[in-house]
Amino acid sequence: MNIFITRALPGDVLSPLARIGKVTVSPHDRPLTQDELRAGVVGADAVITTLNDQIGTEVLAAGPQLRVVANTATGYDNLDVAAITAHGAVATNTPGVLVDATADLTMALLLDVTRRVSEGDRLIRSGTPWSWDMGFLLGAGLQKGRLGVVGMGAIGRAVARRAAAFGMDVVHHARRGPGVIGPSTRVELKELLSTADVVSLHCPLTQETHHLIDEAALRLMKRSAYLVNTARGPVVDEAALARALYLGEIAGAALDVYEDEPHVHPGLIELENVVLAPHLGSATAQTRTRMAEVAVENVVAVLGGGEPVTPVPQP
Ligand code: DGY
Repeated sequence: MNIFITRALPGDVLSPLARIGKVTVSPHDRPLTQDELRAGVVGADAVITTLNDQIGTEVLAAGPQLRVVANTATGYDNLDVAAITAHGAVATNTPGVLVDATADLTMALLLDVTRRVSEGDRLIRSGTPWSWDMGFLLGAGLQKGRLGVVGMGAIGRAVARRAAAFGMDVVHHARRGPGVIGPSTRVELKELLSTADVVSLHCPLTQETHHLIDEAALRLMKRSAYLVNTARGPVVDEAALARALYLGEIAGAALDVYEDEPHVHPGLIELENVVLAPHLGSATAQTRTRMAEVAVENVVAVLGGGEPVTPVPQP
């Protein structure tokens, strides 16, 4: 068996793979080009990918033996699942294991942007004189504020629980599921956008959610409201967001993901009321190791003739 890994994996997770075949890890410490991906999967029975690797018909054609594409992420918008299935392979992801890490980072961003922590950090580092006064760098308190969670999967629910513990009233919008989940009540998207003090995005990137938060959606939000995105960049129209922030149509934004990573819309970089994190949602040592282990478990299961542990849902 040949197993190709597009980016080095953390921890000592390769041993189960070495027992079943030859493991090749990309020598490039960066996202691979389509040509490099094609070259990598030649003769491979399995490939372990990151969210940067676009796996579609062209890459699959270079790897006719491929039986499993194991993505080291919960999101799998980088995989053409229909094409992988048609190829006779399975696509897998790493659900569950990064829920707490991502929910924690969401709260960190939410607190940062509403309490202006990064802004204060930049101010001190710039050497700007400052002193405590009653009006200095005032932020927005969360207590009794409303959090609107868009997408109520495991991460959305974990954020809802955390926000409720901070004294927030929580509502959510999801296509399906019960009307009440934990501390949160389901509402229509329009109501969520127009009443929330913080809107936090936790939906997958699909054709339906691409630019879900566009100019019209941003206009529905309160001028005092904040947007947090730890889901996928293209769920938000970044140019529209930069414009809304510049015009003061919303109070601030905290982003962990971008439309064209690693690029960030220049209009966002200029603004003080935006917190920018470099896709850190799952970035704890424990979580990344577990993500790698789950990907490896999927490869071992499929190449051993068994069922994948965490197959992605079929389109
Ligand atoms: C995921 O799993 O989809 C995350 O974005 C990885 O950090």
